[in-house]
Amino acid sequence: MTRVFSGIQPTGELHLGNHLGAVRNWVRMQHETDAVFCVVDLHALTMPKTPGEVRSATLHLSQLLLASGLDPELCILFVQSHVREHTECAWLMECNVSFGELSRMTQFKEKSERQRFISSGLFTYPALQAADILLYDTNEVPVGDDQRQHIEVTRDIAERFNSRYGPTFVLPEAVIPAAGARVMDLQHPTNKMSKSADSPQGTVGVLDEPTAIEKKFKRAVTDNDNEVRYDPDSKPGVSNLLSIFAAATGGDPNELASGYTQYGRLKVDTAEAVIEMLTPIQQRFAELEADPAETARLLAVGADKAREIASATISRAKANIGILEG
Ligand code: TYM
Repeated sequence: MTRVFSGIQPTGELHLGNHLGAVRNWVRMQHETDAVFCVVDLHALTMPKTPGEVRSATLHLSQLLLASGLDPELCILFVQSHVREHTECAWLMECNVSFGELSRMTQFKEKSERQRFISSGLFTYPALQAADILLYDTNEVPVGDDQRQHIEVTRDIAERFNSRYGPTFVLPEAVIPAAGARVMDLQHPTNKMSKSADSPQGTVGVLDEPTAIEKKFKRAVTDNDNEVRYDPDSKPGVSNLLSIFAAATGGDPNELASGYTQYGRLKVDTAEAVIEMLTPIQQRFAELEADPAETARLLAVGADKAREIASATISRAKANIGILEG
């Protein structure tokens, strides 16, 4: 069966981009594949954090993933730091990726521009991500469009490792959804919606109240010509609304556009579709939030299953390199 792996950072609130670009597809794929999903808490440490922040964010995000429909009976859901093989394997990855390759990562360039303290972890981040993916003999990695480059470098590392040390890792493919792969900020529609961007009015949280969602869509930046047309280059704001509407309802942005003559109506209907999609998640989250011990139990079960797969892969990698057994 196809092995699927993906991860998400416990930083900021889960937003509509994460949901449409990634999580929603994970929920679908867990029924059809052998799926492994990870809350990547160690990746979150690449940016400064206050003590305790990552712990509560990891629990919160895990509960949101369960509320979104991930079912530990159907997939493996675990926390990255609970499986030590990830950091061990990351070192093997770092020694098989070049400084030049890591320097070309656009996400590093963007994130480091906004920081005064640029950790070396932020720079080597793609090596840890490659470890996450390769440890599970992953065939497919369902992600949003912004992760494409990280999956490419993961493939390059795997190929290099295999040619240096013999067949060890499976080469993964990125799986990017047709609709929702790049949800843009509602206030700055040429920027992607992001957990780290300081744009609360442009970012729709999965846990936002319906009235807040309506308001954010009503105030979404469009343009002045008042023609509803799907054209991301010249009409980024309206096109973003049409993409979100299409992703939320399973429609096609061009077809949806032909049913509208005014921005106002499109905004109201898009908000309504998003609220309808998110309300059941919000209701389940409220129940799960009340029982953190049950979430911790489910995550421990997930980590045990993940460790079994990861430890076999790391042993194979070390044997192939030829490291003296301890
Ligand atoms: P992260 O935590 O930033 O985002 C999680 C997922 O959400 C997608 N996404 C979006 N999709 C559409 N529109 C947007 N505006 C948007 N913003 C985010 C991301 O593409 C991602 O799929 N490096 C990864 C986490 C990671 C990972 C992995 C992913 C670590 N190890 C192994 C896959 C496999 C990240 O920071 O995602």
